[in-house]
Amino acid sequence: MSHDYAALFAEREHERFALHERHLNEQMVRVLKAIGYDVGFTRGSGQYLYDRTGDRYLDLLSGFGVFALGRNHPVLREALVSVLDAELPNLVQMDVSTLAGVLAERLLARVPYLDKVFFANSGAEAVEAAMKFARSATGRPGLVYCDHAFHGLSYGALSLNGDDIFRQGFEPLLPDCIRVPFNDLAALERALASRAVAAFIVEPVQGKGVNVPADDYLARAAELCRRHGTLFVADEIQSGLGRTGKFFAVEHWNVEPDMVLLSKSLSGGHVPVGAVLARRHIFEKVFNRMDRAVVHGSTFAKNDLAMAAGIATLDVLDSERLIDNAAQMGDRLLRGFTQMMSRYEMMAQVRGKGLMIGVEFGPPKSFKLKASWHAVETANKGLFCQLVTIPLFKEHKVLCQVAGHASHTIKLLPPLVITAEDCDWILRAFEAAIADAHRGPGAVLSLGKTLVDHAIKARRAG
Ligand SMILES: Cc1ncc(COP(=O)(O)O)c(C=O)c1O
Repeated sequence: MSHDYAALFAEREHERFALHERHLNEQMVRVLKAIGYDVGFTRGSGQYLYDRTGDRYLDLLSGFGVFALGRNHPVLREALVSVLDAELPNLVQMDVSTLAGVLAERLLARVPYLDKVFFANSGAEAVEAAMKFARSATGRPGLVYCDHAFHGLSYGALSLNGDDIFRQGFEPLLPDCIRVPFNDLAALERALASRAVAAFIVEPVQGKGVNVPADDYLARAAELCRRHGTLFVADEIQSGLGRTGKFFAVEHWNVEPDMVLLSKSLSGGHVPVGAVLARRHIFEKVFNRMDRAVVHGSTFAKNDLAMAAGIATLDVLDSERLIDNAAQMGDRLLRGFTQMMSRYEMMAQVRGKGLMIGVEFGPPKSFKLKASWHAVETANKGLFCQLVTIPLFKEHKVLCQVAGHASHTIKLLPPLVITAEDCDWILRAFEAAIADAHRGPGAVLSLGKTLVDHAIKARRAG
């Protein structure tokens, strides 16, 4: 059998939807066909994707945030090929990994208040580790999380999920997990008052909805945690590594968490990885004796390819000044969207930090548009956003999606390598699609027709 994967891809890529319908999650294929996203991407480079016909798309999803460096960065390729060529003694287990030591050293150099790193294979695994570490370090059962939080979908992480749609059908979840509204210090204080809470786990900027905290929220939450003997854990799996224009998003508010969780971009877009950066006293409680040296861990964690991807990613963030670029391009986009708001009454709010931006829509005041808004929203809550995202994709070749179930917010999470020209492309495309959505009943009818046409086509093809 040949192992030419370019040839295999070329030979079989036309069957991708059929293969998934047959062997994987066919509902995903139905979704893609219904909204016309079944174009068949064949190549990815930097911030761009290319479909079968050669059309170029600007990717504002970044694979849910893993492509900070863009796709197929040459430095990542060099790093990974060099690991394979070196024939390193990977995953010996009864040894310790050199590359893991180096990556830990380089991560910790950026956070002088944290001392230790635990590596995992994904975001959810980093969250699971932090939950266990917090219980072990404090001897307390409670875990506090926020409304609309997203920390992953394994059982522990799901128990901290602030959207019921993800939980339904999978209960019972972990006990002693307490939900509080995001941005509500009084509710947090009430939850912590029992002094039975091990940790408050929070995304500095929430991924679902792109919710940005009030300016004093995180610092005062950290202070409340300290006062109640609760660990403050920042889930920076999406917001970390430069995404918001700082290395960690918590730096915007001068907060020093007890644990910081990373994953996504640390992979360089190639090799899954997760990390928990923690204070020394937490590690000393968890790994407190020789017979507990492997009390928590995972077979593939610290594998050489993942560690090399992490080291190379940190290097490219610096050498290409991508954190500064995220701050500058983010400002440019926020300014552009803010100006746009005065022209379109259904634009309700624009918010974000760096290149984590939410454009929220809301009901209009004018009579003509009210009817269209209600027609779309009655059919399906959150459908209004598809009035914008479908033409963005089809007509303007901009890939993005809504920021959660039944959400009225479109989320932008582009690679940190985007340029001023890309920002102009984004703003031009949104302006045209939003203007069209404000045309009134015509726009709604055309969305209805598009969805029905796709459904018919999908049924025929299926
Ligand atoms: C903030 C946050 N935490 C945790 C996770 C879970 O990461 P993973 O999908 O790698 O398990 C995600 C994934 O979207 C996330 O955005």
